[in-house]
Amino acid sequence: MIGGDGFGGAGQEDAAAWTVREATQALAYDRIGDRYDEAFPHKEGQLYCGKWLLARLPRGARVLDVGCGTGLPTARQLADGGCALTCVDISPGMLEIARRNVPGARFVAMDAVDLGRLPERYDAAVAFFSLLNLPRAAIPRALGQIRDVLVPGGLFSLGMVEADVDNAPIRFLGSRILVTGYLRDDLRTVLGDARFSVEDARTISYVPAKSRASPEVQLFMNCRRL
Ligand SMILES: C[S@@+](CC[C@H](N)C(=O)[O-])C[C@H]1O[C@@H](n2cnc3c(N)ncnc32)[C@H](O)[C@@H]1O
Repeated sequence: MIGGDGFGGAGQEDAAAWTVREATQALAYDRIGDRYDEAFPHKEGQLYCGKWLLARLPRGARVLDVGCGTGLPTARQLADGGCALTCVDISPGMLEIARRNVPGARFVAMDAVDLGRLPERYDAAVAFFSLLNLPRAAIPRALGQIRDVLVPGGLFSLGMVEADVDNAPIRFLGSRILVTGYLRDDLRTVLGDARFSVEDARTISYVPAKSRASPEVQLFMNCRRL
């Protein structure tokens, strides 16, 4: 959890505010549940990243899915590809759905800024549209923790929406959530600062199936821990 341990000098009050923020975000995703997959039924970008990872990982590789959502398609794709999945999310509702969709995976209720508490090290990590729920001030910390739980040379696939916004409230499938984005060059800089090299990048214009969700440009970056 942010606060109390040196993040941006945050104190007890900031820690309490963070706890409330994350509980509110988790509740919003509990309410969204598998309607998320109905709004975004085609996820070519992250399926492409999954293939990119599977082409480079040995069978049995340990993979961490940060903000796994329903587990579809990514956790299932990687589990079907022979990886041992650990799926992390702040939403108990999403974890419950993912548990059904990817029965062989391990599930942990955890905030992306607390990943340093995981005891294992991973050959790869993915974070598709989950870090966009953090404010910009917290994203370097989450990326740093992802880097720290990877083995040297470990792989990391990131999916974000391209937008120059920080911690902006939006209505999404009937729930209010806070979202953050970067322009593509800025996202590369953030990844570089977190000591990831971007080995492959893709940009996709995406029109969600539900008219209530807006068209967006999605950025996918396949990286290696430096
Ligand atoms: C937009 S959904 C994406 C789900 C999935 N990765 C996918 O691409 O289909 C974002 C997910 O990130 C989770 N999430 C949001 N903030 C998080 C945080 N701070 N730590 C961990 N998970 C978080 C949400 O509960 C939700 O399941």
